Amino acid sequence: MHTFPMARAASCPFDPPPQLKDLQEEAPLTRVELWDGSTPWLVTRYDEQRTLLQDPRLSSVVTRPGYPSPAPLRPGADSIGFILMDDPEHMRLRRMVTAPFAMKRVAAMRPAVQRIVDSLLDDLLAGPNPVDLVEAFALPVPSLVICELLGVPYADHDLFQAHSRNLVSRSVSPEDRGASFGALNEYLTGLLDKKAAEPAEDVLSGLAARVTAGELTRREAAGMGVLLLIAGHETTANMIALGTAALLEHPDQLALLRSSDDPALVGSAVEELLRYLNITHNGRRRSAVEDIEIAGETIRAGEGVIMANDIGNRDPAIFDNPDDLDLTRAGNRHVAFGFGIHQCLGQPLARLELQVVYSTLYRRIPTLRLAAGLEKIPFKHDGSVYGVYELPVTW
Ligand code: HEM
Repeated sequence: MHTFPMARAASCPFDPPPQLKDLQEEAPLTRVELWDGSTPWLVTRYDEQRTLLQDPRLSSVVTRPGYPSPAPLRPGADSIGFILMDDPEHMRLRRMVTAPFAMKRVAAMRPAVQRIVDSLLDDLLAGPNPVDLVEAFALPVPSLVICELLGVPYADHDLFQAHSRNLVSRSVSPEDRGASFGALNEYLTGLLDKKAAEPAEDVLSGLAARVTAGELTRREAAGMGVLLLIAGHETTANMIALGTAALLEHPDQLALLRSSDDPALVGSAVEELLRYLNITHNGRRRSAVEDIEIAGETIRAGEGVIMANDIGNRDPAIFDNPDDLDLTRAGNRHVAFGFGIHQCLGQPLARLELQVVYSTLYRRIPTLRLAAGLEKIPFKHDGSVYGVYELPVTW
């Protein structure tokens, strides 16, 4: 039996581990062994992943028996917003924050996001060369945007970025992850109290008002704030840096993107990079609350299930030449944002940020290139979100 997660091939840091491809060819579901000796199901094919992600007999609650945790649970692991809850609790809370992340509201933010990107690039071009693109650009873009939307002071970015980094790392001890969660929770609780006293036009003020109205507890509001703050910057930052590394390794595709004025191409480029890189590479994790029959197998109540979306996004039954990065790919129904009730709440925002970044960065710096060989780049193999710790670039 294979242990999960598997290692990527050193020569192909943008591809899922080669064993996943073999397992996908063999069967849609297979058993794997985790760090704690448990043997959950690994779902490798796209169709079965989508079917299961819509199945209410699968639970996201990490403390349920059989939940296939990626690492020892940190203290208070179940208190991070609604991402680890089931309906109806999940929907009760998610509904309270859908409006600010809806497509129309987010579309109105395009000029503000463009200004943020332009101003960071002005600074980058005026600063040292080579530079680490993660610190100078990839991390600040989504951090500034989510701070603005939530009403979190960007001046505190060192604090929340460091704790977020700990929380999504498998190599940090459960105690240290628990401490980071505690620190972020305390920070958000403090901010919510301030917003209750002095409301502004932002998401945290909206949550604070609901606490005052008795619709939400302080603890629930803080957990939601932590979730939105982490999910709002960690993921997109990794897509910016890893996407840039992938494009620099595919110069023909980069040239296409740089030379096109067509917003449709920028849109399809974003979808294709999301599919190809699938940065949430540890799989969507669930446990069965009832027996489920699928693809000739029975998932028993109490067993863990992991949907490996990275290999699902490379399923040849769905995507032609799935291992090619093809920015013109049409009808790209990838599962990089998940599927079903937990499908990413922030996807309109992530898409907008990535569209602005990918259509601006390589035009303003047409000679952008890596300042170190790919083999020297520190990839986040130990993170629940894949990416690079640093991306030294020059121009
Ligand atoms: C490229 C960037 C992003 C990627 C690849 C991504 C990916 C995902 C995935 C795969 C899920 C599903 C989790 C599951 O099924 O267990 C998810 C959920 C979520 N994402 Fe994102 N995300 C991104 C950006 C964002 C942004 C910018 C926000 C803004 C706050 C955000 C907020 C959320 C929230 C709140 C959930 C939980 C939804 C729920 O449980 O109902 N994400 N994301």
